[in-house]
Amino acid sequence: MTQISFEGKVAVVTGAGQGIGRMYALELAKRGAKVVVNDLGVSREGTGKDTSAADGVVDEIIKAGGSAIACYDSVATMEGGKNIIKKAVDTWGRLDILINNAGILRDRSFLKMTEEEWDLVTGVHLKGAFCVTQPALKVMKENNYGRVVFTASASGLYGNFGQTNYGAAKMGMIGMMNSLKQEFSKYNIKINTVAPTAWSRMTADVLPPDFKDKFKPQFNEPMVLYLCAEENSITGEIFVMGAGWYGRSAIVSGDGICIGDADRAISVEEIRDNIEAISSLENSREHDSALSVFSYMGPLLK
Ligand code: NAI
Repeated sequence: MTQISFEGKVAVVTGAGQGIGRMYALELAKRGAKVVVNDLGVSREGTGKDTSAADGVVDEIIKAGGSAIACYDSVATMEGGKNIIKKAVDTWGRLDILINNAGILRDRSFLKMTEEEWDLVTGVHLKGAFCVTQPALKVMKENNYGRVVFTASASGLYGNFGQTNYGAAKMGMIGMMNSLKQEFSKYNIKINTVAPTAWSRMTADVLPPDFKDKFKPQFNEPMVLYLCAEENSITGEIFVMGAGWYGRSAIVSGDGICIGDADRAISVEEIRDNIEAISSLENSREHDSALSVFSYMGPLLK
């Protein structure tokens, strides 16, 4: 079996000071990558600041014989994002891999959610993904090579009580990915999204206690490293995982039904009378661009 190597590659992992991101950083370094370990060192809610989280992982990597450097900037500002990418380029002259992993939580049922809680969570996850990915893609485009991973969540894909801010931010990254896969496919840049699950400080009071030994952060790492490997040709896809289960999730559309002739008005009663066919996901398909959805309307457009 040939080994997947990251020798000669330079990687940035955001939020790599603990939890799932730490596993990505350690394994990338073990397999030869030079790694920028980014972490602001905040609490689960995004408060405080502490350099020891990133430093600890850098020490671990260096002790094991690998190459790593810490970066304490926040992903949530453009200046921070640029600094994180600059760190990689200034230190090792290139950037091949970006794993957007940093995250915080401010859970609250929707009617009680404050503007601050909304802004903080979307600011780190969604705007943060923009702030780091834009400077990263500038470098990757120049080099005609790159691997980018966004971190979504089953909470965004399928819903979770009290997480409208988090869910919206996580799904926003999928929207980003869908456009980016088109903008950057010709530069040999593969961009994918994962929805991991792990026992971490983020989930310790959500997952049942007996999940602690099963949902190890490590189990997310092989899938993400595969997506970051040179041999990976997949782009624009969503993978869900946890405890050693790996699967793909997708946004699909059903065949639907054409009503009328694209000329006469359609009544609300016609929608009611056809709601079963409209709602059906039989023969559901994925679409690789917004334009491809027009294929359903073909009979109406003749
Ligand atoms: P964690 O809380 O253990 O680690 C997140 C890290 O991100 C922390 O070290 C924190 O200091 C850092 N961070 C937070 N804000 C930052 C900022 N503005 N700039 C730089 N670093 C920042 O969380 P965990 O569980 O390892 O989660 C990693 C990612 O996976 C997150 O994006 C999370 O939303 C996502 N996720 C985790 C799940 C789980 O089951 N643990 C489930 C679904 C998604």
